[in-house]
Amino acid sequence: MAVIQVDNLRKEFKRNKSREGLWNNVKGLVYREYETKTAVDDISFTIDKGEIVGYIGPNGAGKSTSIKMLVGILVPTSGRVIVNGIEPYKNRELNAMRIGAVFGQKTQLWWDTPVIDSLRLMRYMYDIPPARFNENMERFTDILGLDEFKHVAVRQLSLGQRMRADLCAALLHDPDIIYLDEPTIGLDVVVKEKIRNFILEINRDRGTTVILTTHDMSDIEKLCSRVMVIDQGKLMYDGNLEQLKSDFGSGERMVVETDRIFESSQELNELGVTSCSVDGKKTQLIYDKKRINSSMLIKWIMDRYDVKDFVVKETDIEEIIRTMYGERLPLEAAADRERVFV
Ligand SMILES: Nc1ncnc2c1ncn2[C@@H]1O[C@H](COP(=O)(O)OP(=O)(O)OP(=O)(O)O)[C@@H](O)[C@H]1O
Ligand SMILES: [Mg+2]
Repeated sequence: MAVIQVDNLRKEFKRNKSREGLWNNVKGLVYREYETKTAVDDISFTIDKGEIVGYIGPNGAGKSTSIKMLVGILVPTSGRVIVNGIEPYKNRELNAMRIGAVFGQKTQLWWDTPVIDSLRLMRYMYDIPPARFNENMERFTDILGLDEFKHVAVRQLSLGQRMRADLCAALLHDPDIIYLDEPTIGLDVVVKEKIRNFILEINRDRGTTVILTTHDMSDIEKLCSRVMVIDQGKLMYDGNLEQLKSDFGSGERMVVETDRIFESSQELNELGVTSCSVDGKKTQLIYDKKRINSSMLIKWIMDRYDVKDFVVKETDIEEIIRTMYGERLPLEAAADRERVFV
């Protein structure tokens, strides 16, 4: 059953045209010229109850803008969002009762108020029955480890503590849907793990639908069965993780250690090896596994070299996403690509 229905959703922002030079800037104060930025460009999808969906894309892709329209903070320029049968921005209060949201970049809690008081305020705002509130508080305190800082003012919390408090606040009223915009940003591995487990538990026990944006591909691998990739406001991919891997990750990687320096050749290239980087006696080969499998490749190598050791690795999701985002990201992948020899 679809709980979220998005049809041709679009958001344009008008902003002052950027100018160069002092005189042009002075002119700009008098004659305002605007340019339009399309942050979300005619996106359509549906999300069913109980799904955990990863919404990913490079910086500026339009993720937060989409989430804000789903939450009802932003009004779409055109298109439509229906959440639980209502249009969020038209019914913000009703919508708020049934959703929870965490924006990793910005807390929803009261800055100068101790965590516990903020959470108690939520109880009144959402009219949560006392028994339910106490039960949730007990459970969330336990899983999220809130005891160590619940009497501390929000502004004095570390990032990881603040994120745990925000998650608790977003879930106290048992929402059907939670939107998490970068809930693991800047967190250490232990807190990340805590938060991921918490999300999984809530989804499993309550059937809560989760929409998550992140730049951390391990979040996606651990949590999401479905991934949507957005780039420059457009939906580039919507499907399950396995499909994404098989569509875009046909490459496999082998690192082989040989008795002498490996020499790449035209023959290897014709067999399906797309990249060969030699580092002393260790060589990394990337190949299209639809054309040559690892046993054929290792046999080819062993016929010519004395092989000391080798490992085969599936291209991971991180590599696939890098390929999809293309050249615009300053990731190490760009440097990697330049090392394509064959
Ligand atoms: N209030 C605004 N006014 C004008 N332009 C905006 C506004 N909010 C966002 N934008 C622009 O819309 C585009 C999408 O921004 P958005 O915040 O949705 O990206 P994002 O995918 O969340 O990126 P990030 O990964 O960096 O968080 C960007 O080009 C941004 O500059
Ligand atoms: Mg964002």
